[in-house]
Formats: sequence, structure tokens, C-alpha cells
Amino acid sequence: MKFFIDTADLAEIRDLAATGLVDGVTTNPSLVAKTGRNFLDVVREICAIVPGPVSAEVTATDHPTMLAEGRFLATLARNVAVKVPLTPAGLKTCRALAAEGTMVNVTLCFSAAQALLAAKAGASFISPFVGRLDDVGSDGMALIADIVEIYRNYPGLKTEVLVASIRHPMHVIAAAKMGAHIGTVPPGVLRQMFQHPLTDKGLAAFLADWAKTGQSILGETKVAAE
Ligand code: E4P
Repeated sequence: MKFFIDTADLAEIRDLAATGLVDGVTTNPSLVAKTGRNFLDVVREICAIVPGPVSAEVTATDHPTMLAEGRFLATLARNVAVKVPLTPAGLKTCRALAAEGTMVNVTLCFSAAQALLAAKAGASFISPFVGRLDDVGSDGMALIADIVEIYRNYPGLKTEVLVASIRHPMHVIAAAKMGAHIGTVPPGVLRQMFQHPLTDKGLAAFLADWAKTGQSILGETKVAAE
């Protein structure tokens, strides 16, 4: 499973990209607004930090303007994935951009029917929002199971399931069990995934026992080299 990070915060992106575990980045207009920075500068900078796909969303709602915005965003860096909303104009734009060789992430997906249309429109990624479905009393993960099952029936489809609106590590685990290709994870959730109290407890015990030996691994190397 690939991990994208769901943020436009450059400090967070730099910090997490340094772990070597980040395969891409997703942004949306709300995440960009939070940074208070110029959208195009932010996209260029993220693309320079993370070599994988970086989603940058169009903000027009009509097809011709969406297409123009998408074409322009695609010139910012070779790893830009243009994000379009799951509307008729968005899917028309998706088809046109995909035909030009641009990666397209179709966002705001809330049903399997929508996901099927996005795949037919040539999307590189479909973004079903699990957290927002859970918020309204629907089962977000059931949607992922449906989409994964449907796409598997058509091996020719190249669209990857990018689980979005992730709220906690259990969303990631459930998505991985279902075989979703990608999870876009908020920085805090990615950090939570490292954590287990038994890891901390076990490490503290190992270090305490090691200290009792009075040894140092690098110290020994120095002595051996002398
Ligand atoms: C990412 O592509 C989506 O825009 C994002 O995951 C939405 O998350 P939210 O529902 O927490 O805003």
C-alpha cells in the first residue's frame, strides 16, 4: 500500500518525507487556505520535496475553465496530479487531461457509481472520502470495499483507489486489508501509526539493560580501528 500525506504544510511534508515512507501528497483548497500561502508556490515546493504524485485541485466548476486550470497546474512540475471534483464537468475534464497524459485525481467521491464513472473517464486516482461518510452515519469503509471489488472485476482499469478523509490508523488498516492501493493520511495519523506502548516499554527496558553492560557499539568500533 502506498502512503500519501494529506497536507499542504511544507514543514510537515519535509519532516515526514525524510522518513522515506511518503509516496505522494494530496492537497485541497481548504488545506492550501490553512497555510496562508500562494497556492502555486506551495505546489511547486511540494513537488520539489516529494517525487511522487502531488495532487493540486482546480477551483473552476465549468469544463473549459477547469481544463485550462488543469493544463496550467500540470506545467508546474512533472509530478502534479490534477485534482477535479466528481461532477459531469470534472469527469469531462478528467477524460481530456488523461488523454493528454496528465495524472488526474477525481475527488469528492461518495458512491461506487461515481467511482465507476471516474474509472471510465480515465482517472489515475479515485478519492472516496471515508471520514466524511462516517460523519453522516454511513459506512465509509464499506464504500472502499465496494470500489475495490468493482475495479478488480475489470483488470484493464488503471484507476487506483486513494482512500481519503482518513481520520485514524484503523481506517488505514481496514483499507490495506481490502487491498486499496493508496491511503492519503493526515500527518498526525501517520505519526500515530508508529506508536505502540509496548514498543516504548520494550525499548526502555532494552536500553536500561544495555546501560548496565557499560558497552558502546561505536566505542568498540573506534577501539577496533585504532
Ligand atoms: C484528500 O484528497 C481530501 O481532500 C482529504 O482527505 C479530505 O479530508 P477531510 O474530510 O478530513 O477534509
